[in-house]
Amino acid sequence: MSSLFNPYPLIKPLLFRMDAETAHENVLATLKKYYQNPLLKPFISNQINDNPIQLMGLTVRNPIGLAAGLDKNGEFIDALASFGFGFVEVGTVTPRPQAGNPKPRMFRIPEKQSLINRMGFNNHGLDIFLKNVQESSFRKNGGILGLNLGKNADTPIENATSDYLKGLEGVYPYADYITINISSPNTKNLRALQGEDELNALLGQLQNKRLELADNHQRYIPIAIKIAPDLDDNQISSIAQLVQAHKMDGIIATNTTLSRDYVNGLEYVNETGGLSGPAVHELSLNVIRKLRQHLSPEIAIIGVGGILSGKQAKEKILAGANAIQLYTGLIYKGPALVKECADALAS
Ligand SMILES: Cc1cc2nc3c(=O)[nH]c(=O)nc-3n(C[C@H](O)[C@H](O)[C@H](O)COP(=O)(O)O)c2cc1C
Repeated sequence: MSSLFNPYPLIKPLLFRMDAETAHENVLATLKKYYQNPLLKPFISNQINDNPIQLMGLTVRNPIGLAAGLDKNGEFIDALASFGFGFVEVGTVTPRPQAGNPKPRMFRIPEKQSLINRMGFNNHGLDIFLKNVQESSFRKNGGILGLNLGKNADTPIENATSDYLKGLEGVYPYADYITINISSPNTKNLRALQGEDELNALLGQLQNKRLELADNHQRYIPIAIKIAPDLDDNQISSIAQLVQAHKMDGIIATNTTLSRDYVNGLEYVNETGGLSGPAVHELSLNVIRKLRQHLSPEIAIIGVGGILSGKQAKEKILAGANAIQLYTGLIYKGPALVKECADALAS
C-alpha cells in the first residue's frame, strides 16, 4: 500500500458479516468502480518496485501473482492488477457457461484463516471470458496474464481432452501463459487426469495442438499444469517426468486440499470442497521440494497455497518455486499482502 494507512482491517469485519460469496461479489464490483478514483486509489493500489524475473520465458515485473478462481470470468483484471501483481491468472473458464454448484458453496473458517469452497467452475463460458480479457489493459501495460482452463461438468471425463483443446485454441491469441487445471476437487473425476496414463495422453495432445497454434500464430505460448497438494511421492515424480517429456513449461503447485486435519472441530469442517489457507502451505511446500528434485531448472514452479505473510512467500521460493500466487491470504490480509510478499522476495 502506498499510503501509511491500510483501511482493510476496518473494512474486513463488515465483509465478514456477509455470506462469503456475497462479500466476494460486492468487493469486486466496488473495486472495479473505484480503483481509479484519485481519492481512493492510494488505499487500493500498491507501489511495488520492479524486481523482474524470468518465468517460463516471460519477463515478469515482480514474482507475485494472483491465483486462479478469484476472477473466474476475467471481469476484474485491471482492478485486481492495481494491487501491484507482476502477473494475474484468471479463470478457470470452461468452453460452455455453467452455473456451478448450488449456493452456499464458499465458507470461511476465520479461526484458522481458511476457506472451504465447492464453487464447481461457475463461469460465463469461453466467449464472454475472451471478450472481457480483450477489454482489459493489463497486458498492454506490460503485465503478464495467465488464462486458466477447465472442463465442463457435463463433459464425460473420457472427453476431457476435447474441452481443454477447445480452451487452448480459444485463449491462445490472448494469453501470456495458459494453465491446464486438472486439480480442482469440485469437478467429478477431474483429479484422475493427474494419473500417469491419463496425463500422458492429455499432455501429448496439448503439446501437438500448441505446436500447431504456435505455427499459425507465429507465437509460442507457455503452458503450466496446475496440480493438487494431495499427491504421494510416486505421483509427484510421475507428473514431473511427464511435464518434462511433453515439453510443458511450468507447474503450479498447488490447488486446494481435501484434507481437514488443520481445521478439525471447527464450524464448516464437514462441508464438501477444497480447503485453502495455511493447511495448504506445508502440503504445497512438500510438493514443490519434490518437483524441484525431478525437474530441470528451466521448468518453472509457481508456488501457491496458504501464503499469508512475506515469510511464507519466501519459504515457497526457498523450496524451489520461481514465483508465487495468492488467493486466501488476500481475503484475510487484504491487498497490503501483495506488497509484503514483494518486499520479502526483493530482500
Ligand atoms: C473460492 C475459491 C475458488 C477457486 N477457484 C479456482 C479455480 O477456478 N481454478 C483454479 O485453478 N484454482 C482455484 N482455486 C484455488 C486457488 O487458486 C489456490 O490454488 C488455492 O486456493 C490455494 O491457495 P491459497 O491457500 O492462497 O488460497 C480457488 C480457490 C478458492 C478459495
